[in-house]
Amino acid sequence: MSKFHRQTYVLIALAVCATFAVGVVMAAKPPFEDLRTQQPISGDAAAGAGKAATCVACHGENGIAIAPTFPNLAGQSATYLYVQLREFKDGARVNAVMQPLVAGLSDEDMRDLAAHFASLPGKPAAAVQQVSSRGYTLYHDGDPHAGVPPCQGCHGADGRGPQPYPASNAPHPAWSTFPALAGQDESYVLAQLKAYHDATRADNSNDEVMQGVAQNLSDADMQALAGYISSL
Ligand code: HEC
Ligand code: HEC
Repeated sequence: MSKFHRQTYVLIALAVCATFAVGVVMAAKPPFEDLRTQQPISGDAAAGAGKAATCVACHGENGIAIAPTFPNLAGQSATYLYVQLREFKDGARVNAVMQPLVAGLSDEDMRDLAAHFASLPGKPAAAVQQVSSRGYTLYHDGDPHAGVPPCQGCHGADGRGPQPYPASNAPHPAWSTFPALAGQDESYVLAQLKAYHDATRADNSNDEVMQGVAQNLSDADMQALAGYISSL
């Protein structure tokens, strides 16, 4: 074999290896979902109640979590809940606890469960709310100087989401996927804000919205917001 040919074969071999390596990296990358065309979902809430036996161990019989690290599901947007379940299942949203729990759920199960938990009344506001705190100001007015928008614009003045959430037969306003935040535990909210800030929760187009919000939040501001939101 001439020297020229050996070099050609080596180059071809390298090119094949490189293509394969890129393929492996791309396959390992979790899926990214564009939610701009996500339709409001419909599901059978009564059927969902019957499928929720495992869920209530952590998320509570009435959708109010039994421990601070578990989010409340009651009163949440059904479409938001469904999207999160779908993303745990396809590996887009990474969580070691939730992923195995949704592995066996069908698309219909996820719709029914989402409809069930969304239909439950949300957690009542705390008796003492942290009004006039840094968290209150950030939530309602943002901090234009720091580049932080008001949270209420997307999550509702009372934190219960952009109400009313659209009916399942409505056209797809982007905000049918915007979550309610009111009454989520401080530690859960703080963990999610950090995950957006550090871009570890980055699996869909809505996460990019929250990354833009969270990138300008300091640790102290995230803590202040988490405290205020948990009191809503
Ligand atoms: C062992 C406890 C446990 C069980 C059982 C459980 N979950 Fe979860 N769930 C969690 C934790 C922890 C999180 C937060 C994950 C994170 O931090 O990303 C979560 C998050 C969620 C979320 C996302 C909420 C949000 O605000 O983004 C949904 C939806 C959800 N669970 C639904 C369910 C359903 C439906 C079931 C039953 C099939 C279930 N969970 C069973 C612990 C549990
Ligand atoms: C422009 C709209 C917009 C603004 C402004 C906004 N958010 Fe969000 N937020 C979203 C969307 C959309 C999601 C859903 C992201 C996803 O699917 O993961 C979200 C998700 C969240 C979550 C995760 C909820 C859960 O159950 O896991 C928290 C916490 C949150 N936002 C807090 C805030 C705070 C605090 C502010 C103000 C500093 C804020 N958001 C401002 C649109 C917004």
